[in-house]
Amino acid sequence: MSENPILRQADCRAKGGAPGFKVAILGAAGGIGQPLAMLMKMNPLVSVLHLYDVVNAPGVTADISHMDTGAVVRGFLGQPQLESALTGMDLVIIPAGVPRKPGMTRDDLFNINAGIVKTLCEGIAKCCPNAVVNLISNPVNSTVPIAAEVFKKAGTYDPKKLLGVTMLDVVRANTFVAEVLGLDPREVNVPVVGGHAGVTILPLLSQVKPACSFTPEETEYLTKRIQDGGTEVVQAKAGAGSATLSMAYAAVKFADACLRGLRGDAGIVECAFVASQVTELPFFASKVRLGRVGAEEVYQLGPLNEYERVGLEKAKKELEASIQKGVSFIRK
Ligand code: NAD
Ligand code: LMR
Repeated sequence: MSENPILRQADCRAKGGAPGFKVAILGAAGGIGQPLAMLMKMNPLVSVLHLYDVVNAPGVTADISHMDTGAVVRGFLGQPQLESALTGMDLVIIPAGVPRKPGMTRDDLFNINAGIVKTLCEGIAKCCPNAVVNLISNPVNSTVPIAAEVFKKAGTYDPKKLLGVTMLDVVRANTFVAEVLGLDPREVNVPVVGGHAGVTILPLLSQVKPACSFTPEETEYLTKRIQDGGTEVVQAKAGAGSATLSMAYAAVKFADACLRGLRGDAGIVECAFVASQVTELPFFASKVRLGRVGAEEVYQLGPLNEYERVGLEKAKKELEASIQKGVSFIRK
């Protein structure tokens, strides 16, 4: 979108006069994209916010741009404007793609979303190869390997900069565990490892902070509820999509952690689905330390109890197939 020449201050900020990071949201007019755009416009670490979609980007941009917060907002509509949307970005957040309807698995979205993610990542490789990428589009267990293959092909792959967003699993786990324990969810931290679909979502209830213990019934209830959290929302929305508001909240929490890491803040640790040597699989979600270049350290899982060890084996089996499906989509 062209700048209005009469707005000297906006021009100054857009040229980088204001401190902060340049962030693009791809799929910004969607159910996640819109509240995510609003929340990122409120983030003081963001100086420039680019909103890209294949529909309705100008409307969302006009709306968000009236918020009296610091970030300069620009909208970009359709493939011809993708490169302008991406050029110079520090962080790219991708919630583009179709969501589930009741009865579908996340893998049922593969056929449509794989192609969307491929095209968007080709744009990133060309226009902002050093950007950190937060990938939300499902099935995350396959779209992250797709993105990695696209970047490898382009010669720009940096595993530290590609992060599948599994934060919603952590947000749900904190909420459900706090309910059972009668605590404030803000005081609870549950590591959730593995991936982002069904049994690949593995909450480590033995490592909950503050330290606590669960009965076998509580463990079973919590693990199932966390694994099926997405389906719970899909069913409640009854055909109108999947989690959008809680996802936007989780995406902003994660993006903010990435930006604080890029700024150089110490000790920023969150769970994400990343290139990993924690198991024999090439990608796995676990705690990572976010720093100036992205996921600077991937942490080991720590001690697991018997219930979690069984869960880990199930998770790895499904994850392996989903990762392979993503890799084959690009290599075929
Ligand atoms: P939505 O349909 O409301 O919005 C998707 C947006 O993507 C739409 O505005 C659409 O126009 C846009 N889009 C489609 N093709 C595009 C392209 N080629 N380039 C740019 N934009 C494009 O869907 P939603 O509810 O916002 O969900 C988006 C995705 O996020 C889905 O795949 C969903 O499964 C996933 N999701 C992931 C998590 C997670 O935890 N990682 C959580 C919730 C949803
Ligand atoms: C979620 O966990 O809410 C998302 O992955 C969307 C879905 O399809 O469940």
